[in-house]
Amino acid sequence: MSKVTVVGAGNVGATCANVLAHSDVVNEVVLIDLNGNLAKGKALDTWQQAPVDGYSTRLTGGGLEDYALTAGSDVVVITAGIPRKPGMSRDDLIKTNAEIVVSATREIVKYSKNPIIIVVSNPLDVMTYACWRASGLSDKRVIGMAGVLDTARYRAFLAEALDVSPKDIQAMLMGGHGDTMVPLPRYTTVSGIPVTEMIKKEQLDAIVQRTKVGGGELVNLMGTSAWYAPGAAAAQMAISIIRDEKRIYPCCVRLNGQYKLKDIFVGAPVKLGKKGVNEVIKLRLKKDELELLHGSAAAVKEVVDVLDTMNLF
Ligand code: NAI
Ligand code: 2OP
Repeated sequence: MSKVTVVGAGNVGATCANVLAHSDVVNEVVLIDLNGNLAKGKALDTWQQAPVDGYSTRLTGGGLEDYALTAGSDVVVITAGIPRKPGMSRDDLIKTNAEIVVSATREIVKYSKNPIIIVVSNPLDVMTYACWRASGLSDKRVIGMAGVLDTARYRAFLAEALDVSPKDIQAMLMGGHGDTMVPLPRYTTVSGIPVTEMIKKEQLDAIVQRTKVGGGELVNLMGTSAWYAPGAAAAQMAISIIRDEKRIYPCCVRLNGQYKLKDIFVGAPVKLGKKGVNEVIKLRLKKDELELLHGSAAAVKEVVDVLDTMNLF
């Protein structure tokens, strides 16, 4: 039996629940939202999609008074919070979202003994740290979703430029979920072929730059942030954990000395399985890549310092 709770039944949370249901690997998905009727309605709607699309996952929903429904969750995805509007950076969301993420985490650990929590709310790296602090869980069990989304954007742009299937593009990316993220062309392949052999440097540089501001591109188009790719990315991580697949994804995790970084949550390659972070993979980064990673970690640390003044813990 496996159970996933998704906190926040808005755009990203509802998409994540819907993708999880379609994957048919989880027995139960519970949606919780400040707006309980929204969570109940989206759960019911996705359950009514089951006969059409052919899956067995049961879905229920509730409000903040219904956290008991989440009891015994194996994996919890936290998407609660406000999204970006045009002109806002992810960091602008810190105060509101930190309070939401911390309160949601405390409710979750009241009812589930040792869940693995995937954080999606922004600013991502700092909210993952906040969740970990509030949860009392091992740092192997609190993981942020950003790199799966950021590499998906990068892979999609590359697929378009090379006129190949996005399925054949593999990529790794490190650092924080912001404009300082560090895509790694040296670790990007097209069916095993180094991407640098298939594309001109200027074109690749332009794709890297578009990836870095990929979230903002969508905010400007839609007036709010993206949800299909983010919801699917969080679901993919949950599935690797539930099935103990040990997929290697870029995830936001607490580094404990790897890459010469300590006690900071940032993106790194992670083997994801039933223990949560089964392993942080150590890449042999070149000096310039490591410098970019350290710059990105420093940017995350500045926002962590703001969070630490908020007296939430
Ligand atoms: P949304 O506004 O559609 O949904 C957020 C939901 O959270 C709303 O339904 C709201 O009622 C609910 N909520 C607010 N306070 C709550 C509480 N205390 N407990 C439970 N639910 C509560 O927003 P969307 O688009 O789903 O985005 C959610 C978050 O995910 C935002 O912070 C956004 O920036 C972030 N995000 C992160 C991405 C990433 O790569 N890590 C990608 C896309 C979005
Ligand atoms: C995104 O990258 C805003 O973090 C959100 O789409």
